[in-house]
Amino acid sequence: MTKNILETRDVTKVYESGNLVVKAVDGVSISVGAGEFIGLVGPSGSGKTTMLAMLAGLLNATEGQLNIDGQDLNQMNDVQRTRFRREKIGFTFQANNLVPYLTALENVELMLRLNKKNGREGRQRAADLLTRLGMDDRLNNLPKQLSGGQQQRVAIARALIHNPSVVLADEPTASLDTERANQVVQIFADLIHEQNKAGIMVTHDLRMCKYVDKVIQMVDGKVARVITERAAIDTLAGTSQFDTLSVPKMEDQFQNQPLIIPNPSTFVPVRIGAD
Ligand SMILES: Nc1ncnc2c1ncn2[C@@H]1O[C@H](COP(=O)(O)OP(=O)(O)O)[C@@H](O)[C@H]1O
Ligand SMILES: [Mg+2]
Repeated sequence: MTKNILETRDVTKVYESGNLVVKAVDGVSISVGAGEFIGLVGPSGSGKTTMLAMLAGLLNATEGQLNIDGQDLNQMNDVQRTRFRREKIGFTFQANNLVPYLTALENVELMLRLNKKNGREGRQRAADLLTRLGMDDRLNNLPKQLSGGQQQRVAIARALIHNPSVVLADEPTASLDTERANQVVQIFADLIHEQNKAGIMVTHDLRMCKYVDKVIQMVDGKVARVITERAAIDTLAGTSQFDTLSVPKMEDQFQNQPLIIPNPSTFVPVRIGAD
């Protein structure tokens, strides 16, 4: 049995904004092993980004355990969590957040600099990783001189360069056409498998699930379904030979619902100045 690098237990996140309380994540328990690549799917607003932000140590959970390499993120203070995040976690978000005035190579080196692991050897590793990602002739270009797919590849290199245990990606293909999206996710999957990372990708494009080993579907802040069988994942991704029809995107399916009625358990209005 593979050892789990990442394990959450009953994780809950409640946002309080104005007079509303929103339970964005509601008792989520998941586990990810070494070399395992997870697709996290679900309709808009189901809590995927919130879950990822907690796993990235960017957001405190309201309740529950978030274990990475046996350490609970939710028990750390801010200083400990910041250090842990820099060393153990790599992430890339939809807006890839590259630093506009740094070159592709410098953007990747930045992660090493934060860990005080830069230097000649670090620079060479950054160049090697970008080369692996097909960016060898773009090392010294600024982000604005790169295409969306190239920027996303730089972001992936930046997420992996410091050799983290966990790699998280939120909608990494949102701004890419189908061909680029496939390339980027294929490379991402290969690196996670080769380097034995625990990888999680949030995506609303179910076709991208063909690259993952397990699909976790969230609805209303909860895990609604976990799909581990290859055939079932391929059917979901629309790549199964038995199901050549394309599967509608989950977001589209939910948009056909006539009304969005907040679930009382996840959307609890709070009275102000009550009692
Ligand atoms: N900073 C915030 N403050 C208040 N509510 C939020 C905040 N961020 C997200 N939410 C709410 O939490 C729920 C889950 O959001 P999110 O995690 O972004 O879902 P997803 O990524 O699946 O679209 C939604 O109802 C959203 O409106
Ligand atoms: Mg999101």
